[in-house]
Amino acid sequence: MTAGTASPTIAGALAAARERLCAVAAGESRLESELLLAEATRRDRAQLIASLQAPLARAQAVRFDALLARRLAHEPLAYILGRREFYGIEIACDRRALIPRPETELLVDLALAELRARGAGLRVVDVGTGSGAIACAIAARAPAARVTAVDASSEALGLARENVGALALDGRVGVRRGELLDGAGVFDAIVANLPYVSEAEWRTLQPEVRDFEPKEALVPGPAGTEAIARLVAHAPAHLAEAGLLALEIGATQAAACAAIARARFPGAVVSVMKDLAGHERVLVVRR
Ligand SMILES: C[S@@+](CC[C@H](N)C(=O)[O-])C[C@H]1O[C@@H](n2cnc3c(N)ncnc32)[C@H](O)[C@@H]1O
Repeated sequence: MTAGTASPTIAGALAAARERLCAVAAGESRLESELLLAEATRRDRAQLIASLQAPLARAQAVRFDALLARRLAHEPLAYILGRREFYGIEIACDRRALIPRPETELLVDLALAELRARGAGLRVVDVGTGSGAIACAIAARAPAARVTAVDASSEALGLARENVGALALDGRVGVRRGELLDGAGVFDAIVANLPYVSEAEWRTLQPEVRDFEPKEALVPGPAGTEAIARLVAHAPAHLAEAGLLALEIGATQAAACAAIARARFPGAVVSVMKDLAGHERVLVVRR
């Protein structure tokens, strides 16, 4: 904007940003431009839409340009905004941990259903908690649950602790550093979204994921099933009688993971649940 030129309106800035964002966020360019401009103008999205004809102040335009440049360099929206909604709660996000995904909400559904079926006092562990999203969502919806959140990454745990504090869940979610279930007790429900991407698949991922999210949160080893297999091997000693083990898996891993679970839990009921996109997504073991 040069001296003497009229300030652009919010509507004009949005239209220009949508066009630029098509290159990195084709189907989402409208939503993403609105969320970024809402952030730059310190409004919420509804207020932004109600102000389409308002002028964009110079400082707001500068802030918007900086946010847009980050998104055009493929940084994920959740890292730019510093947050993502998960199971109806706001989870702070940054490069210390994976951004929680909608399909992972299935694990929360399963743990909450288990809680309703078994009554108060359910002991739940979220293994590989990352940002703490799963643990926080369970604790927020189930005040009687005793939730433990474990991760091997001290960076991720720093973020998880911040989320637990921001959501006033201190004292309800215990956060600890650990390798899978080593040194952990016995739980009525073990839930985990561990890394399950193979090395070969990781190389094909979109830059938003491959270049920004922590590789150790995505890739456990060459095959992709290494961490899940190790957890299933350790789980029998940590799962209470009639307990639930629910693990997020890759869309092509159901048969391999079910076979591992049947070998480690003879006599248990092993099943696989699909996500909303129809992909086999969660391995469920009931003792
Ligand atoms: C796919 S991310 C999931 C994060 C979070 N649960 C979510 O759903 O958004 C996997 C997490 O598992 C952790 N992790 C990987 N291997 C682990 C291990 N052997 N023991 C404990 N945590 C591990 C990583 O540090 C990472 O935070």
